[in-house]
Order: sequence, then structure tokens, then C-alpha cells
Amino acid sequence: MIAKTFFGFEEVLAKELRNLGAERVQIGTRMVSFYGDKGFMYKANLCLRTALKILKPIKTKKVYNEKSLYDFIYKVDWDQFMDANDTFAINATVNSTIFKHSHYVALKSKDAIVDKFRNETGKRPKVDTDRPDIQINIHIQQDTCTISLDSSGGSLHHRGYRTATNIAPINEVLAAGLLLLSGWDGQCDFVDPMCGSGTLAIEAAMIACNIPANLNRKEFAFERWLDWDLDLFELIEKSVLNKTRDFHYSIKGYDKAPSAVRKAVDNVKNANLDDFVSISNANFFEGTKEDKEKPLHMVFNPPYGERLELNEEEFYSEIGDTLKKEYPNTQAWFITSNIEALKFVGLRPSRKIKVFNGKLESRLVKYEMYAGSKKAKYQEKKK
Ligand SMILES: C[S@@+](CC[C@H](N)C(=O)[O-])C[C@H]1O[C@@H](n2cnc3c(N)ncnc32)[C@H](O)[C@@H]1O
Repeated sequence: MIAKTFFGFEEVLAKELRNLGAERVQIGTRMVSFYGDKGFMYKANLCLRTALKILKPIKTKKVYNEKSLYDFIYKVDWDQFMDANDTFAINATVNSTIFKHSHYVALKSKDAIVDKFRNETGKRPKVDTDRPDIQINIHIQQDTCTISLDSSGGSLHHRGYRTATNIAPINEVLAAGLLLLSGWDGQCDFVDPMCGSGTLAIEAAMIACNIPANLNRKEFAFERWLDWDLDLFELIEKSVLNKTRDFHYSIKGYDKAPSAVRKAVDNVKNANLDDFVSISNANFFEGTKEDKEKPLHMVFNPPYGERLELNEEEFYSEIGDTLKKEYPNTQAWFITSNIEALKFVGLRPSRKIKVFNGKLESRLVKYEMYAGSKKAKYQEKKK
């Protein structure tokens, strides 16, 4: 199978897959390939935090022109996967000098499937791009064509807990990826001081408690497949739910905008995480760390572009000053596409990782604030 992800999260996804028990895990560009059976496919869709979708390849062949592509698609035993009453959709991606237009490849492939059913059954399956019974993926890499079934359907960032959205919610897969890259493992307190709709706090709680990422998701594409096995799915679901763990620290989200706070509270409730996540209305620049002695893990995404109310220099230096003065003993990570503005933070980041937030090239940066009191005590002693 192929699990697709965002640029920069391939290693994290491969680790997730190995932890789940995938075999022959191999890292590619924005994807990781692996082997597993049907039960594992269900498990991967339920549990993976950094996968956007999971494809199950069914046939690969070299294709040299439009006709060989059509013949290849036509010859597939389609009635193994769907019948003439099913609806289907095709998503094509091409990276080839022979085939240049993905839309055209999708159209040819659709013709081959429709012709096959019409010739054999007299009926033609219909295309439905919104909610197809079968989602087919055609990938052409130079002259190699791979036909896959999309086992997920809509992107796996649709976790099912977000009914409310605010101005700039971070993608759930990106949020989980940033948390895992930051090393968050639920072994101390967590704060997102600019939490917006609460995505990072919710994903942080799910990681801390080892709750499957897509437990609340409405539907997976494999539920409409001919070989859908509800008993097996329920067995897998039960076994992964048995692996959830207790969490002994706190997870907090603050936002200065009351509208964001209301949305975050709704989302936390939808995710059934009210016991683990608390949201409050607070301005990060006016607050302070609750317990200066306890270690704290912080991950956030500050506003960007025209959403910034202060100018860049003021905003980023306020972040730096607040961290320095008010947050000793803290690992603070944030993502920004405003790479130039990082100099205004006035602290040296101990890590800088290149990632993308949508199309925006960004950095995930880490600042380590040491325990101020320890340093003070040490200096006191030296006097
Ligand atoms: C890009 S959004 C965060 C999106 C969030 N990660 C989500 O998933 O919805 C930035 C948020 O920072 C908040 N914000 C800006 N300045 C703030 C401050 N000084 N203190 C607290 N929140 C702040 C904004 O109200 C906005 O909701």
C-alpha cells in the first residue's frame, strides 16, 4: 500500500507505520510504501496521524500511448472491485513525458471502465465525483502506470471532530505531524497559547492518550468496497481502543479571540476530549506560565499575513520576550511562513525544520527556555 503525506513528514509517517506493525516500510517523496493485509489497511486508516490517504495498488504496467493505457485499464477484472450499479470516480496524477495531462488520462481511464461494463453487462456504471462507491487512482510515472483503489476516500485530515472552523485552522494532519516532529509524547504539560479552533491541543491529547486519529471519522472509502468486512473492522477498532493510555498532565489552549475560544470548546467536545483539554480566553503576551518549576511543551501557529494585528517586528519580539520572561523550563515550538521575521524573536532557535503550511514554505522552530530559577540559584551560590 501507499500512504500519502505532506513534504517533510515521510520519516514520521514511516515511524508511525512501523509502530503499527507494517512490513517492508519504504520512504518516498510525500509518501511511504508498506505491506499489510486487509485488517492492517483498516488499522492504518483508523490510526495513522500523518497520512492523508491510503492507496491500495491493484495493477502496474508499462504504457506507451493512449491506446496501451486504454487497453491496460480495460483488461482489469473490474467486477472484482465494483459492479455496474456502483458509482465511481477517477483521480489521475501524471509525471511523464508521454502523458502530459492528468485530466485526459482520467477521461481515457473512465472510458475504458465504462466500455468494459457496457460490453459485458449491457449496463454502464456512473461517475460520481462527490461520493463515489469506488475511488480509483491512476498514477503514471514516466511510462509506468499504477492503478490503485483509494481506501480512505476524502483526505484523512477530516477526522470528524471539527464542525466549527475559524479563520485559519491548521490542517489536522499537519498539526499531528508538527507535534510528532516536536517529540511530543504526553510526558509533561502542554500549552498552545494561540489555539484558534483547538486543532493542536486536540491532536496533542489524542497522541498523549494514544487515541486513534480517525476514531470520530464519519466514513472510510473501504466501507463501500465489495469485500467490506464489518466484523474485522470492529475487531481492529476494539484492539486499537484497548491500547489507549492514561494521561497524567494537563493540555491547555488559549486564544485572545472569544470567537476562536468558542469554536475550540466545541471541537474539543466533538472529539470527546473535555476531560483532557481545557480552553480559555487569554492574551499570551499578558499571561505567564502557571507553574514555573514544571516542564512545559508548547506548540503553536501564530497568525500570519493580514491576520497579524501588530506589525511583524512587534509581534515576534513579543513572542520572544514572553517566552524569555514568563516561560522558564519550556520547550516552545511554532510554525511560521514568516521566515524573515524570526530574527525579531531575539532568541536562537535550537532546531529549524522546513515544512509547508498549504503552499506556504514554512519553518517549524524550537526555542528552549531553561529553568530560570535553577540558573538564578546557581548564580546566587557563586556570589
Ligand atoms: C493561525 S490561528 C491558529 C489556528 C489554530 N492552530 C487552529 O487550528 O485553528 C492564530 C490564532 O492566534 C490568535 N492570537 C493572535 N495573537 C494572540 C495573542 N497575543 N494571544 C493569544 N492568541 C492570539 C488568533 O486569535 C488566532 O486564533
